[in-house]
Amino acid sequence: MYTEQVDKTRLPHHIAIIMDGNGRWAKKQGKERTFGHHAGAQTAQDVVKAAGKLGIDYVTLYTFSTENWNRPAAEVQALMSLLMENLVDKLFMEYDARFRVIGDRSRLSPEIQDAILKLEESTKNNTKTCMVMALSYSSKWELTKATQDIAREVKAGTLRPEDITEETIAQHLDTHGIPDPELMIRTGGEERISNFLLWQCAYSEFYFTKTYWPDFNEEELCKAICEYQQRQRRFGKTGEQVEEAK
Ligand code: IPE
Ligand code: IPE
Ligand code: MG
Repeated sequence: MYTEQVDKTRLPHHIAIIMDGNGRWAKKQGKERTFGHHAGAQTAQDVVKAAGKLGIDYVTLYTFSTENWNRPAAEVQALMSLLMENLVDKLFMEYDARFRVIGDRSRLSPEIQDAILKLEESTKNNTKTCMVMALSYSSKWELTKATQDIAREVKAGTLRPEDITEETIAQHLDTHGIPDPELMIRTGGEERISNFLLWQCAYSEFYFTKTYWPDFNEEELCKAICEYQQRQRRFGKTGEQVEEAK
């Protein structure tokens, strides 16, 4: 069991997950894609609970991308209804988890925007895992917005171009204050980033699994963490340097 093999002293602080494969999981059983999204929402809850149990500080779930707005209207509508159903604080209180959203909220309905604000507020003093939901999110959108904000500050004279550092950029992203993910998981068999956390993933370890998201679980999460713990993170140095510094 991978759940027993995880080294609790070397956990990643932040795990980002591209939850993919809901549609194919449903189709495989002759069901509508939406059926897969419902099952996937349950998996998301289970995984946040498992991450909390392990003591992971942040779990970012790619829930709806900027590009997903281009799906058939009925599917977008179904995903939005499902989202609304899940924006309740009961589970977060049960798991003592915080909630935070990254992405372009302005494209979401006023009801959803309101529910997000309420949930962020009511969970802000919780102490376990922070569940970061990427909603109407894409990395290129986030970086474009950050660039506009920085340009405005330069124009207003409150920031000098030569004072712009990597930290300045990080602070202008929706993820400000959140450590970069050490581990990035993608379920569903595709091996691509799909416009997710491009800046923040600069040095993440990637873990791909063919498992469709609704079939992902605590054991699979621990398997990914175990594999992450086997990797040597060199950050440009040599393997010998990394070993010596231990
Ligand atoms: C991921 O599952 C959920 C969302 C992108 C909203 P998909 O809906 O992409 O499932 P597949 O990739 O079609 O199987
Ligand atoms: C990525 O999945 C977005 C989310 C998981 C929310 P997609 O299924 O939309 O990704 P692509 O389009 O196949 O790359
Ligand atoms: Mg997909």
